[in-house]
Amino acid sequence: MKLCIALDNPTLQENCNLLRALDSISNDKKEKIWLKIGLRSFIRDGINGLERVKTYGNYRIFLDLKLYDIPNTMLDAITECQKLGIDMLTIHTSCGFEAMKMIADSKHKAANSPLIVGVSALTSFDNEGFAQIYNAQLFSHTLKLSSLAYKAGIDGVVCSVQESRAIKRVTSKDFLTITPGVRPFGENPQDQKRVASLQDALNAQSDFVVIGRPIYKAENPLEVVSNILEVL
Ligand code: C5P
Repeated sequence: MKLCIALDNPTLQENCNLLRALDSISNDKKEKIWLKIGLRSFIRDGINGLERVKTYGNYRIFLDLKLYDIPNTMLDAITECQKLGIDMLTIHTSCGFEAMKMIADSKHKAANSPLIVGVSALTSFDNEGFAQIYNAQLFSHTLKLSSLAYKAGIDGVVCSVQESRAIKRVTSKDFLTITPGVRPFGENPQDQKRVASLQDALNAQSDFVVIGRPIYKAENPLEVVSNILEVL
């Protein structure tokens, strides 16, 4: 299991300070760390910010823009993302089978395409909030969206730890599950509803845990990251 650190700080400088604080981690342990650039950081800092983050080490980069649009617009956006030298990228699975299939097919044409993974149900949804929007039961609908994503040929889904094992059962053990909503050692869930610990994520065969606030808001982020790496 890999750790994705969400770089969701209020400034680029604070994201860089966090990375500097992790500098003393050994290179073999750093291989387990991916950096996640999300909407806040990318809208604020753009491609220059992405390039700056890359200078802090040989980390893999996960660009979490959760793209959602008509198939042609999605494909154009993915083609631009494929030029950014990133390693993983998010779309929404609810963009539909046609869009996901076009995107999956485009991967074979691009050199060094990033992994493309689809958000199933946001981890900030509970059953009630999900049903309000999708008029469907969260767990079964997550499995349905994941099966569609698998059939379309994308690399995996973003889901909660609670769904990870079942998704692998209905798709394949190699279909990636990326799980946010992780509170490694029982920290405050904040706006996340479907939360789990690091141990739960390991038990659920999660491939990547995504962790933001428990790291970047910690008094000692190096200590938190080191403790997480001990468990992975
Ligand atoms: O601070 P926290 O650990 O809750 O951050 C989780 C990160 O994962 C955020 O950057 C959020 O945008 C992202 N994410 C999520 N749920 C998803 C997809 C991404 O929380 N379904």
